[in-house]
Amino acid sequence: MKILALIGSPRKGGNTDTLVGHILKGWTSRGHTYEKLYLYDHEICPCADCRRCKRGDCVCTINDGMQEIYPKVEAADVIIFGTPIYWYGPTGKMKLLIDRLRPFIATGRLKGKRALIVAPSEEGPKACGPLIEMLRRSFDYLGMELAGRVLAKAYEKAEVAEDQEELKRAYDLGASLGSSIG
Ligand SMILES: Cc1cc2nc3c(=O)[nH]c(=O)nc-3n(C[C@H](O)[C@H](O)[C@H](O)COP(=O)(O)O)c2cc1C
Repeated sequence: MKILALIGSPRKGGNTDTLVGHILKGWTSRGHTYEKLYLYDHEICPCADCRRCKRGDCVCTINDGMQEIYPKVEAADVIIFGTPIYWYGPTGKMKLLIDRLRPFIATGRLKGKRALIVAPSEEGPKACGPLIEMLRRSFDYLGMELAGRVLAKAYEKAEVAEDQEELKRAYDLGASLGSSIG
């Protein structure tokens, strides 16, 4: 079984990256594999609402980094949506990616996949309501299952690396999902 970990923070080695890393440690301890993508390394253009993905072979024809990402999303059993909270929502880069998931409405190719949310923020879990609600509804629409979340309170770069409780929560989530799946 394979996880695709999407890192929507511009800070490599930051809080999102650190928490996702611990989920992946737990996951690989159960013999599974993963691929991690830093979204800021990829060009992701905005959805143009051309509706091309609703006709014929239902593909997105915008020629950018998403053309490499689409097959990876389809091949994954679990997708981690890792994004710091920016203004009570996801980062702009993560939102660009989510908007571009539209072809999967018509193809149904994300149905049955599991999703994890990782969202650090300065204020902690109380700041995450709007993001969770937006993602939960979007996963429902795509036929995906929200299988877990890690919402940590952290502000400075990699501050969460000192929070043993959150790191354990992340590791345990990866390990328990890895034990229960396939
Ligand atoms: C543009 C911007 C907006 C932010 N908005 C919020 C916010 O609305 N609520 C909050 O608690 N933290 C907010 N933060 C703080 C980040 O969520 C926090 O520093 C997080 O730990 C960064 O994660 P990272 O290290 O993975 O990038 C914001 C940070 C930035 C740069």
